[in-house]
Amino acid sequence: MKKSASTEKYDLQFASEVDKGLSEHPKHLPTRFIYDDEGSRLFEEIMRLPEYYLTRAEQEILSRYSGEIASILGREKFNLIELGAGNGEKTATLIKALLKEKKQFRYVPIDISVGAIDALRQDLGRQFGSLPIEGIHSDYFEGLRWIKEHSQRRNIVLFLGSNIGNFQLDHQHLFMQKLSQCLKPGDYLLIGFDLIKDYEVIRKAYFDPAGVTARFNLNLIRRINRELGANFNMDEMAYYSAYNPYKKRNEACVYSKCRQIIYMKANNKNYVLEAFEPVNTEYSYKYSIADTERMAAEYGFGAIAHFRDSRAFFTDALWLRK
Ligand SMILES: C[S@@+](CC[C@H](N)C(=O)[O-])C[C@H]1O[C@@H](n2cnc3c(N)ncnc32)[C@H](O)[C@@H]1O
Repeated sequence: MKKSASTEKYDLQFASEVDKGLSEHPKHLPTRFIYDDEGSRLFEEIMRLPEYYLTRAEQEILSRYSGEIASILGREKFNLIELGAGNGEKTATLIKALLKEKKQFRYVPIDISVGAIDALRQDLGRQFGSLPIEGIHSDYFEGLRWIKEHSQRRNIVLFLGSNIGNFQLDHQHLFMQKLSQCLKPGDYLLIGFDLIKDYEVIRKAYFDPAGVTARFNLNLIRRINRELGANFNMDEMAYYSAYNPYKKRNEACVYSKCRQIIYMKANNKNYVLEAFEPVNTEYSYKYSIADTERMAAEYGFGAIAHFRDSRAFFTDALWLRK
C-alpha cells in the first residue's frame, strides 16, 4: 500500500528549510544539504580539478608550515577538533607534523556527511594507528556543543577549506559568536580564508568546463526529489555561477529552462519555479587580510600568524582566543 504524506518519514529540518527557501524571493536552498554521500564524493572530484586552486593552495601551506604550527602549540595535551573535515587529506599533513613533535592529542572531526566521517575514521585510522579518533556526525552548531562539554583540555580548532565563506553573513556572525563563546583563553583556531584575487580565477574554480561543480550543486535538487518526494524535472535543470566583486563572493545557483510547478510530498505543497528563475545554492565569500584581522578582533581572538601559499591565493590564519 502506498504511504500517505503524513506517514512518510521525512527529515523535518530539511523539509522546512527547503520550504522556506523556495517560498522566498529570490529563492535559495540550504547549502549544507548538498553534502550527502554523493555530494561528498563529488566534492572530492572538485578538489582534484585543475581550476579548483583552493585545495592545492592550502595543501601547499600545510606542507610548508605544519612544523612551525606544531611548534607554536605548546606541550600540554589537547583536542584537535576539525569542523567540516571532509576527507581530511590536508589535515593528515598537519597530524603527521604534530605526531613528529610528540604532541599528545585526540582528533575530533565533525562533519554533516556520514560518509565523510566513516571514510575519515578508516583512512586516518589506517595512517595513524595509535591516534585516538572520535568522529562526530553533526552540524557545526551541534559540534560546538561537543567543544563546550570537553573543555578540560586545550582545544585547537581547525576550520579549513574556507568553509567560513559558505555561510550567509547572518549565520557567519552567529557561528563566530558561538565558536568564540565555546573556546576559552589559550585555545587556538586555525582558520582558512580564500583571498580576493583575479575574478576570472575565482569564477573558473566554481564553474569548471567538465561540469563537476554543476553536478555537485544539482545533486541537491536530486536529493530533494529523492528524500522529500519532490518532482523537479532534472532534464530541464541547469547550473550557473559568477563572482560578484561588489559583495566579495561567488554566487552559485540552479535554474530551470522552463516553468515548473513542483510538488513536494514532505510539505504537501506546490512551488512555482519560473523559467530562468535563479535558486541560490551556495555563496563562497572571499577576503582580504584586513577583513580576516577585523573578524579576529570582533570575536575576541588575536591573529598570531598568517600562513600563505606562494601565490598568496589563500591564508591559514592562526588565532589565539584571548
Ligand atoms: C567545502 S568542504 C571542505 C572540506 C575540508 N574542510 C577541506 O578543506 O577539504 C565542506 C565540508 O564541510 C561539511 N559541512 C558543510 N556544511 C556543514 C555544516 N553545516 N555542519 C557540518 N559540516 C558541514 C561538508 O560535509 C564538507 O565535508
